Amino acid sequence: MKKIVAIYPGSFDPPTNGHLDLIERGSKIFDELIVAVLRNTEKSPLFSLPERLHMLEAMTEDFSNVRVDSFDGLTMDYAVKVNAGAVLRGIRAISDYEYELQMALMNRKLQPAVETVFMMPAEQYSYLSSRLVREIAQLGGSVKDLVPELVEQRLKEKLDPAIKLQHAREPKPRKRG
Ligand code: PNS
Repeated sequence: MKKIVAIYPGSFDPPTNGHLDLIERGSKIFDELIVAVLRNTEKSPLFSLPERLHMLEAMTEDFSNVRVDSFDGLTMDYAVKVNAGAVLRGIRAISDYEYELQMALMNRKLQPAVETVFMMPAEQYSYLSSRLVREIAQLGGSVKDLVPELVEQRLKEKLDPAIKLQHAREPKPRKRG
């Protein structure tokens, strides 16, 4: 039987428990799921591409049929490149629907053979977004239970001035040669 490869595209700045919930659900219905991080979502993302890839790789290491990759350009061109038959997107609330419908229909126009599949994350993540996580963390609030522990730690390291200072004071490894 034909294997169904799906991509789960997004900016993941940072990845949240809502993303993880969707990845888990997607991994159960697709043979292979590729979490595809868009390279240039915003001019100045909070986390660099390697940082986002590293967090997602750590978060998904227990899912044997999930891998993490990055892409540039059109999602549909990337889908064709990796032979994906489906694009996975999460819908949290009705407010997501209009934008997601528009994107799904445009993607279908670009590439009729690739289907968009919508899944709903668990209810407790229905109000969760990367943008809100960034805002809460930047203003000193707690993002516990909203993101995996590793992401919480990375946010602290990036945003806590004391930790930043400590890192700046740490002696840098000397370059050889
Ligand atoms: O995490 P996001 O911001 O909801 O992800 C949006 C994303 C990356 C899926 C969307 O912006 C996208 O597909 N961008 C790639 C460029 C593209 O294909 N644009 C046409 C969409 S119809």
